[in-house]
Amino acid sequence: MARNQFASKFGTLAAIAGSAVGLGNIWRFPYVAGNNGGAAFLIIYTVICLLISVPVMLSEFVIGRKGQSNTYRSFIKSSGHKGWGVVGAVEIFAGLAILAFYCVVAGWSLEYIFASAMGELRAVEGIELTDQIARMGIRFDDFVGKGGEPILGVWRPVAWTIIFLALNCIVLAFGVSKGIERCSKFMIPALFGILLILVIMSVRLDGFAAGAAFLLKPDWSAVTPQTIMDALGQSFFSLSLGMAAMTTYGSYIQKEQSLVGVSFTVVIATVLMAILAGLAIFPSTFTYGVEVSSGPGLVFKTLPALFASLPGGSWVGVFVSTLFFILLFFAAVTSSFSLLEAGTAYVTEEWTYKGKHMSRPVALTILFVIVGSLSVLCAMSQMEGSSLIIMENSLFDFLDKLTSNIILPLGGIAACIVVGWSMKKQVVINELTSEGQFNAKLVEFFYFFAKWVCPIVIFYMFIKGLL
Ligand code: PHE
Repeated sequence: MARNQFASKFGTLAAIAGSAVGLGNIWRFPYVAGNNGGAAFLIIYTVICLLISVPVMLSEFVIGRKGQSNTYRSFIKSSGHKGWGVVGAVEIFAGLAILAFYCVVAGWSLEYIFASAMGELRAVEGIELTDQIARMGIRFDDFVGKGGEPILGVWRPVAWTIIFLALNCIVLAFGVSKGIERCSKFMIPALFGILLILVIMSVRLDGFAAGAAFLLKPDWSAVTPQTIMDALGQSFFSLSLGMAAMTTYGSYIQKEQSLVGVSFTVVIATVLMAILAGLAIFPSTFTYGVEVSSGPGLVFKTLPALFASLPGGSWVGVFVSTLFFILLFFAAVTSSFSLLEAGTAYVTEEWTYKGKHMSRPVALTILFVIVGSLSVLCAMSQMEGSSLIIMENSLFDFLDKLTSNIILPLGGIAACIVVGWSMKKQVVINELTSEGQFNAKLVEFFYFFAKWVCPIVIFYMFIKGLL
């Protein structure tokens, strides 16, 4: 049976950029950038992306495209050693663990699309902004189960989580090019379009200049060694590195497409989208003088209140708020495709039933049950009085920290070591240039970085981060 592949060049870019552009870009990047020196952070971030993250991404693509298999098998085939399979397997597990808590947040975005569209988040006539923010805060805490008596019902966040995962499974059942690629080709341009509309809406606000300055004005005095660590961590999570996503997608890239070209385009698109997200969000916080924050607090508490106060009447608020949560949903779902696909490729290629490989629908049903159970636990671990606590963290936070702080950096180092030290240099160069079709000069540079610079730098940061 012929192996899955992306069908078109644009589709490949859309799927891979879709994996990268996610919640991390929309609710974390603008805030981290703003607090770490604005444009100064942007410059450091871009340099780190190009010098450290691009070589890691290329290493993962090389392992996947050379291996023509799921991450576990690709690690074995590319390195020639069975032991590396363990690393591949851990990365696949990490992907599924990220998916488990990602589905919870993505489920929240579904709830908020409907709540916005139905006008539930509109401001009460004559209410002060601070009261409106407090109202939205209570609504969110109540919804996720952090408030006292849940009015909306405890099942809601759990139900949305499962609905989101089921949507993923249905799309993936159609296959790599007919499912993932087709959806991404529509969703990524739509996401870009929505961001542009939101930025245009915020240009009209009084706080636009202040919001843009927060994000874009360079302030080198805010840059500390910690800034560089933050930039690296943000860049890894944001570019979906160190876990099975990029290795798996790499195995679907056609030979005629340049891996270097793909990685550059994806990095530029990801940074651009993150900046646009900041320009869409911050002007309103500055207009109303609300404290700038990140994460769920910003997206589900402050922003709905600000949208409801936008000038132009309540329909403007409903419109902007609905669009914003659709944007969040598109960003989340195209990322979750890559997390689930890493597991799907593994199960269909490695597990057999009565001597036959499993079909995608069967593999997805199995993954739905496994990831779904973990997701439900994650959603419940957010609720008040939950006993799902591991090492003083809720299960949700524990999985986040375990993957982001430990597995992702180690996974990135592993990819560099396989490419720089286990594989023959000529084999790597051939893969990167598609057997000489593309320019080899830059490729030598990336090879050097993947072999020497990236493993050392990432390991150093990893150890420092743990201490
Ligand atoms: N890159 C995604 C984001 O920024 C998260 C992600 C991590 C997706 C790892 C896939 C793999 O939100």
